[in-house]
Amino acid sequence: MTRQDIPEFAPMLRLDGKAFVVLGAGQGIGEQSAHALAQCGARVLCVDSNEARARAIAEATRGVPCVADVTSRADIQKVFAMAASEFGNRLDGIVDVVGIGVGKTLETLDDSSWQRQFDLVVGHAFLAIQMGAPLLVPGASIVLVGSMAGSWVRGGELLAYASAKAALHHLARGAAQDLAPRRIRVNVVAPGLTRTPRLLDANDEEFWQSQAAEIPLGRAGSPSDIASAILFLASPMATHITGVVLPVDGGAGIGMLRPMAKSASRPATAPGRS
Ligand SMILES: NC(=O)c1ccc[n+]([C@@H]2O[C@H](COP(=O)([O-])OP(=O)(O)OC[C@H]3O[C@@H](n4cnc5c(N)ncnc54)[C@H](O)[C@@H]3O)[C@@H](O)[C@H]2O)c1
Repeated sequence: MTRQDIPEFAPMLRLDGKAFVVLGAGQGIGEQSAHALAQCGARVLCVDSNEARARAIAEATRGVPCVADVTSRADIQKVFAMAASEFGNRLDGIVDVVGIGVGKTLETLDDSSWQRQFDLVVGHAFLAIQMGAPLLVPGASIVLVGSMAGSWVRGGELLAYASAKAALHHLARGAAQDLAPRRIRVNVVAPGLTRTPRLLDANDEEFWQSQAAEIPLGRAGSPSDIASAILFLASPMATHITGVVLPVDGGAGIGMLRPMAKSASRPATAPGRS
């Protein structure tokens, strides 16, 4: 391309003829991501452990349902065997949304819940990258859903979850390095607080309003806010972006910088909050 060449930007969001696997496609961010990819022309293998959800999203997006527990190596093997046979041994992308917190503290975490937390957040991403990569074509994209909890230190009930999300972010960066020679990109979308069905069930409106007051853009995210960023990173629009963790948090991360800025004026020995 010469300095004067101007590409056609709009078609870069089209994914016609491309094939994606979405893990956790049944509701919330995964559901919106499957719709976003399908609306741009992609065919989607809609993976969920809940059979009714897998079937519903596949029907709504004219995709292919696949019932699997992504924490199982055998099931992930089955997912990519199915993708290979449905899409002719080639794949243009993987989106992995699964990630549930076990909600235990330093005092209450036992070995099995710590291990379970890592299986629920990062183990399946490793399995999906390892077993999905051989099918990915040059130009393909892997997008993992991380969390701002993985980028900023979190204790309390988020301790294990935040540790696992931090590992997920790092896994993405390392895999981005390993897969770059094949022109396969690996990125993370890190949501801040988001109004997913699971969190809507667990919290009342008072909670959402109080949280909104802490977010510079004045509201929690929606699953479609997160899916939009996933679509961008999955598309040829992001063809030169790999190994990044993209916050989608309404600016909440800006606020996280405030304690660090203050500590800069304190003596070096003062305990900092960050
Ligand atoms: N809601 C937030 O505020 C927030 C903030 C930061 C990060 N996140 C991240 O967003 C993602 C969650 O998105 P969501 O709430 O839309 O998803 P969710 O928890 O509702 O799950 C999405 C789908 O995944 C399926 N699923 C769960 N476990 C599975 C398994 N083992 N195998 C296969 N399918 C499984 C569920 O049945 C569901 O249909 C997670 O990675 C979470 O860590 C959320």
